[in-house]
Amino acid sequence: MIRIYKEDNYEQMSQRAADLILAQILLKPDCVLGLATGSTPIGLYEKLVEYYNNNRVDFSQVRTVNLDEYKGLDPNHPQSYHYFMNQNLFSKVNIDENNINLPNGMEEDSMKACAEYDVVIENLGGIDIQLLGIGHNGHIAFNEPAEYFTKGTNCVALTKSTIEANSRFFASPDEVPKYAYTMGIASIMKAKRILLVVNSKEKADIMKEAFLGNITPKVPASILQTHPDVIIVGDSEALRDFE
Ligand code: PGA
Repeated sequence: MIRIYKEDNYEQMSQRAADLILAQILLKPDCVLGLATGSTPIGLYEKLVEYYNNNRVDFSQVRTVNLDEYKGLDPNHPQSYHYFMNQNLFSKVNIDENNINLPNGMEEDSMKACAEYDVVIENLGGIDIQLLGIGHNGHIAFNEPAEYFTKGTNCVALTKSTIEANSRFFASPDEVPKYAYTMGIASIMKAKRILLVVNSKEKADIMKEAFLGNITPKVPASILQTHPDVIIVGDSEALRDFE
C-alpha cells in the first residue's frame, strides 16, 4: 500500500518526513531507523536536530542502519557517507555511537564486507522505517537499473559519470572511490515501512515511471509498488502526476 503526502515545497516535505520519523521514535524509543544520504534528506535531518534541541525526541536508544558507503573511504573522510551522517545528524543528537551502523568502507574484501553487513541488518531484528531517496534513473541506494533485483548487500562498480562527477571532491583521480557497498533491494523490501522523500520537477518523470508504471529491475524503485507499507513524501513538483 502506498500513502502519499504531497507538500507545497521542500521545507514542508522535510517537516512532514521529520514528523513521521519523530512519531516512529516516540512510539518505539529503541526503533531501528534505516537512513539515507544525498541532498534530499538534509532538510529532514535539520528538523530532527531541531526537535532534539527542543527536547521533543530522545535518540539514546535509537538504532540506525545506513543504506550505503563508499569502498575505500574511512568514516572521517569528508566524502564518506559516515561523515555525512555525522555532520547532518549523529554528532548533533544524543545517539549512542554503538548503535550506528554503516557498511565498512575500509574492508577491502568485498564479499566479507557485504556478508558482515547482512549479519548486522539481520541482528538488528528488522528495520522499522527505511528512509529512501530516488535517483533520476530510479535507483534506490546504489542499486542501479539492471536485469534483476539485487538481494543482500552488494558491491557496486560506480559508473564512469559518477566517478567523474565525484572527482572534484578529491585531490587526485586515484582517490575517487570506484566501488560502493550498498544494501540490496530484497533487504530494503524487508523493512516494515518505507519512507521515500523526493523533491523537484527533475524527479517528476521518474516518480511517474516508478510508481505508476511497470514493475521492472530497469527502474529499481518500481519494486516498492509491491511493498505493504510505503509512504511517499514529496513536493508538488516531484509529485506532479499524483493526486
Ligand atoms: P539526491 O539523491 O537526494 O541527492 O537527489 C537521491 C538518490 O540518488 O538516491
